[in-house]
Amino acid sequence: MATDVMIEANSLGKRFGSVKALDKISFEVRKGEVVGFLGPNGAGKSTTMRILTCFIAPSSGSAKVHGIDVFEDPLAVREKIGYLPQRAPLYTDMTVWEYLEFTSRIRGIDSGSFTNRLKKVVEVCGLAQVLGKDIGTLSHGYRQRVGLGQALIHDPPILILDEPTADLDPNEKAELLKYIKRIGKDRTILLSTHNLSEVEEACARAIIVSKGRVVADGVLDDIRARQGRLRYTVTIDEQNAIKGSAPKVEEVAAAFSALKDAKSVRELPTDEKAHKFEVVSPESVDLRGELFRVAFDKGWMLLELRRDAQSLDAVFRDLTKGDEAKDRGRKVDDAVDEEFGYDDDEDDEDLDDEEEDDSEESASDESDDDEAEESDDDEDEDDEESDDDDDEEDNK
Ligand SMILES: Nc1ncnc2c1ncn2[C@@H]1O[C@H](COP(=O)(O)OP(=O)(O)OP(=O)(O)O)[C@@H](O)[C@H]1O
Ligand SMILES: [Mg+2]
Repeated sequence: MATDVMIEANSLGKRFGSVKALDKISFEVRKGEVVGFLGPNGAGKSTTMRILTCFIAPSSGSAKVHGIDVFEDPLAVREKIGYLPQRAPLYTDMTVWEYLEFTSRIRGIDSGSFTNRLKKVVEVCGLAQVLGKDIGTLSHGYRQRVGLGQALIHDPPILILDEPTADLDPNEKAELLKYIKRIGKDRTILLSTHNLSEVEEACARAIIVSKGRVVADGVLDDIRARQGRLRYTVTIDEQNAIKGSAPKVEEVAAAFSALKDAKSVRELPTDEKAHKFEVVSPESVDLRGELFRVAFDKGWMLLELRRDAQSLDAVFRDLTKGDEAKDRGRKVDDAVDEEFGYDDDEDDEDLDDEEEDDSEESASDESDDDEAEESDDDEDEDDEESDDDDDEEDNK
């Protein structure tokens, strides 16, 4: 292993009962990289992150963080990692100062070093104004910043952030991203998100996962280019023409479709009195000249001709479409049987054959047990999360 590999996931697999959350995920993150970990709901982002941070064990495969195997020495791994789970583990009745002091004590930081670390964290996460406030009174954006502060308090070289910007308004999002970028200058960061513009802004590289598998991994431009398509928007006036009569929509569609390199032609909605089309070509050709020539030869009034590189959004959709976020790998009958307690039916034979520990309880119940056995800390984390929830409820 090269020494600058900070995170290494090796064929990680994870099953929760009949749900295959991870299906041989492998990737590396090198020192100093800020990597976006992208994928639709249920793709396996949080599961991967929980394995890397030693909260749950994988069903197969291995992982190393800072060169240390996550099973062999989980404590050493945790020392190297700052982790912000998808729902920040905050104690809402503590002030920000109390909470950061508490987390620093858990991390074994002495009081002298704490003061220094606190100054850095407060500056880098923009917490100066709220240091004395109860966490329960803070906005969601500030809570996320406190969560980030907690992840940074022991000055770890590696940060694992699970959707830190989810549910933030655009201003808060931009603010938090600013802090993350600042932090990323001298640290390695794995950041999960659904938001592609965020990845474009904060990360140089992205790993896209879908159905528990890596479907793309590379620099953003390369991922975009890998799809190998270009998209053109062409708008033709539907009322006026330079010569002859103004065209009907079918005529325009037919003329564009007749172009050799037009892979697809699709009418787009528009409020204008115009025919607006999307034409897609392979990346190797430039269709703009041909599109102009069609309009010119026919005497149509060309109102707009634009070429866009395939957007990252479109690439993401292409790569992850068909991702059944929930109940992956389960048949509808199985799901219904489990839900209504018909588990002992012979119908479940297939399932039982496949998973020995997979018979009596619902998928989520048994997975919870599964996790509790694997790690006490995990339970703690969940407790913290529910504490947080309770408090949130109380505050409403
Ligand atoms: N404790 C659990 N018990 C049962 N199933 C689980 C558990 N944790 C995750 N799963 C399942 O594993 C799959 C992957 O979930 P995971 O939370 O890793 O996805 P994700 O990519 O983080 O999604 P999101 O974007 O919604 O956070 C999902 O199908 C999910 O329902
Ligand atoms: Mg998640």
